[in-house]
Amino acid sequence: MIKKGIILAGGKGTRMSPLTKAVNKQLLPLYDKPLIFYPLSVLMLAGIKDILIIVNKGQLNQFRKILPENNNFGIKISYKEQLKPNGLPEAFLIGEKFIGKDNVALILGDNFFYGQSLTQSLKKNISLKKGATIFLHPVRNPNLYGVAFTDKKNKVKKLIEKPKKTNSNLAVTGLYFFDNDVTKLSKKLKPSSRGELEIIDLLNLYKKKNNLKADLIGRGGSWLDTGNIEDFYDASNFISTVEKRQGLKIACLEEIAYKNRWISKKEIKDSIKFYGNCEYSKYLKNLDT
Ligand code: TTP
Repeated sequence: MIKKGIILAGGKGTRMSPLTKAVNKQLLPLYDKPLIFYPLSVLMLAGIKDILIIVNKGQLNQFRKILPENNNFGIKISYKEQLKPNGLPEAFLIGEKFIGKDNVALILGDNFFYGQSLTQSLKKNISLKKGATIFLHPVRNPNLYGVAFTDKKNKVKKLIEKPKKTNSNLAVTGLYFFDNDVTKLSKKLKPSSRGELEIIDLLNLYKKKNNLKADLIGRGGSWLDTGNIEDFYDASNFISTVEKRQGLKIACLEEIAYKNRWISKKEIKDSIKFYGNCEYSKYLKNLDT
């Protein structure tokens, strides 16, 4: 069972510069919420209540302003700083104490997931006992991503980073479930030629032991990139379209917490006070509580 989650919310944000010169990418508005609400909502939808957010050195107070440790979502948030973007597996070294003896989920702070296929997949995989699970999603341009090949039992047989030519269109997304070996295995990794610890090397260690599974977030779900400006605004438009049509918000953290029975009407009222007079508060007021 996975009870803990890490959001990796540091990074250089080079591709989004100059927007990211003064503000961390994860605090930029993806339509009507800070980007970090979306990966946090995924962990909450998975039922994870104990969450570590890893941020760049010096940016802690900015994040605390919008996601304080004593929040109104019925979850426990803690923070750690990453001195430099040394690669994704560094999350498990920075988070060693936080992870303790538990299994853990990792989600990248700039990844957007949505849809029924997502929630089904989260429910199916949250009970992980041993090994690791990655989540795949079909994309038109697999050459930009890590790509996975699986057998009939969903075991990963091959992982290729940014293949020039490939007959798989299944990209490895930024959501990963790991057993408690993850810290021990991350300590074995050496930086790659670009000077970072690589998630693909970590996944390959699991694969070697035949312990790496993949699940598909199919066409009933969405996984969108928010790494560059064009994709960032496409994701914003997607959220705007869905929310306007349905009158329902994507990644409203209080709504998820309330439906999970983690909070009561009181916390929702506290949140309304905290956000002040805005669209998001209006939505909270009208929640079916
Ligand atoms: P990247 O895709 O490496 O992107 P980035 O945010 O550093 O931006 P750019 O490539 O434009 O310079 O990272 C993916 C996510 O993981 C992103 O949300 C930042 C986060 N991250 C960290 O927090 N620490 C790290 O060491 C790395 C490599 C990424």
